[in-house]
Amino acid sequence: MPYAQLNSIEPSLEDIVSADAIAVGFVKSEDSTFELVGNINAISTIEKFFDIDLIDEISFFQPGGKAGEILEIPISQKATKADRVFVIGLGDQSRQSHRLAAASLGRKLRGKKITVSTLLATDSADIRAHAISVVLGAYTWTLKSDSTSDQPTFNIVSKDEKIIRRAEVIAYSVCRARDLVHTPSNIKNPLWMANQAQKVAKEGKLSIKVLAGKELAQFGGLRAVGNSSPKPGPRFIQITYSPKSTGKRIAHVVLVGKGITFDTGGVSLKRPYDLMMAMKSDMAGAAAVLNVVGALPELKPRVKVTALLMCAENALSGTSQRPSDVITHYGGTTVEVLDTDAEGRLVLADGLAYADAKLNPDYLIDIATLTGSATLGLGRQYGAMYTRDRALASELVAVGESSGDRLWHMPLIDDYQDSLESDIADFNHTADKGDYSAGSVTAALFLEKFTGKRKWVHLDVAGTARSESDAGESPKGGTGFGVRVLIDWIMSL
Ligand code: BES
Ligand code: ZN
Ligand code: ZN
Repeated sequence: MPYAQLNSIEPSLEDIVSADAIAVGFVKSEDSTFELVGNINAISTIEKFFDIDLIDEISFFQPGGKAGEILEIPISQKATKADRVFVIGLGDQSRQSHRLAAASLGRKLRGKKITVSTLLATDSADIRAHAISVVLGAYTWTLKSDSTSDQPTFNIVSKDEKIIRRAEVIAYSVCRARDLVHTPSNIKNPLWMANQAQKVAKEGKLSIKVLAGKELAQFGGLRAVGNSSPKPGPRFIQITYSPKSTGKRIAHVVLVGKGITFDTGGVSLKRPYDLMMAMKSDMAGAAAVLNVVGALPELKPRVKVTALLMCAENALSGTSQRPSDVITHYGGTTVEVLDTDAEGRLVLADGLAYADAKLNPDYLIDIATLTGSATLGLGRQYGAMYTRDRALASELVAVGESSGDRLWHMPLIDDYQDSLESDIADFNHTADKGDYSAGSVTAALFLEKFTGKRKWVHLDVAGTARSESDAGESPKGGTGFGVRVLIDWIMSL
């Protein structure tokens, strides 16, 4: 499916009325009066031109003013194309309200061949958020044989064309991550993921390395999980963006993504069974890091970024690992496997240990649909972030808010460390000793064992990587969570 298109236009009447429709914002004040928001000069020019009073029209409908509420007002067609105005609620006019308003416009026009001039935002950060979110709202993915490839075009009033171009790069990176997540698991096995990564690498002239079969000898976690699936078996995918050298030292960020192309739970079959339907999304972390690094050739940050995609299927078969197996991770740490459904941390452990041993990262960040528990406390709108580095955490929280991928700093609670002890190996992986019922925290504590002394951040996106309804900025299915915050954070370094 194609994505919605973005253009930047001048606030001139001629440019604005050359579209099929015009979108403006409104807010409702405490005394229940309405006010138009956006490029006010241009809006009043339009009102004069079409001889219409938009406040009168809005008042007639008595809308609530919630962010994303849309009224469609016909206008007498002059010699121009435009024949309607979308008036969109901007709620409290926060950045998030701008996102919801834009996404709601995108959703309304999803699958339609229509051009809309939008005048909702004036501040450059709002324009950027608006531009990204109209594309996200319009996003759709389907294998229906009768689907068309129509999508809307948004002509956004912006002083700076560059804002729109960069917004497009980010929005399309989120959409590509979503495409990977939406793809059913009979199509996307680890080899397919490697082929997708090859495409991204080729397009952006990035270096790429894929390890399979015997080359994975040291990756005990990836093999133990991925060899449950007879073919094509697990893949370790490494893609690197390096800016042109200027002789100055630059930071190296390593991103590790969980890439479980389907999670049955293995021998410890997933329970409750209903959860399994969503498990084609269990590679959302890998999809995110691939599309973060894929965006960088166009955005050109002065940072080296390596993405590691830990791809495997967690299948139920004669070659599945067994509860009670002991595996040896990259670097030699031994782990007693207790529940084969806690496979994500096993593949990530290899990736983190490899990054620490081989890549000398200044920042080591993993992103994974790791635990159902992450959803318990935070729900589906905030990602759970774990790190010991408070300054880095508050940076990421701030970038999260401004990007739309919102994060919450969670504690690495050392009181729970003893739950990871094992009688026969260095650790057990499910925090089986003791009863701390903090599954997302203990999973993070387990991962930390493999990060050496690196500045490390773990993002548990089990709640946010997938939307169970077509609402807000996301369709039902993959959200592409993590792409925006990681790109924006890298650009801020
Ligand atoms: N992929 C799941 C986590 C998950 C659950 C993601 C729901 C998205 C929605 C992960 O591999 C898993 O099964 N985790 C277990 C760990 C437990 C067995 C220690 C969990 O969270 O229940
Ligand atoms: Zn699992
Ligand atoms: Zn999983």
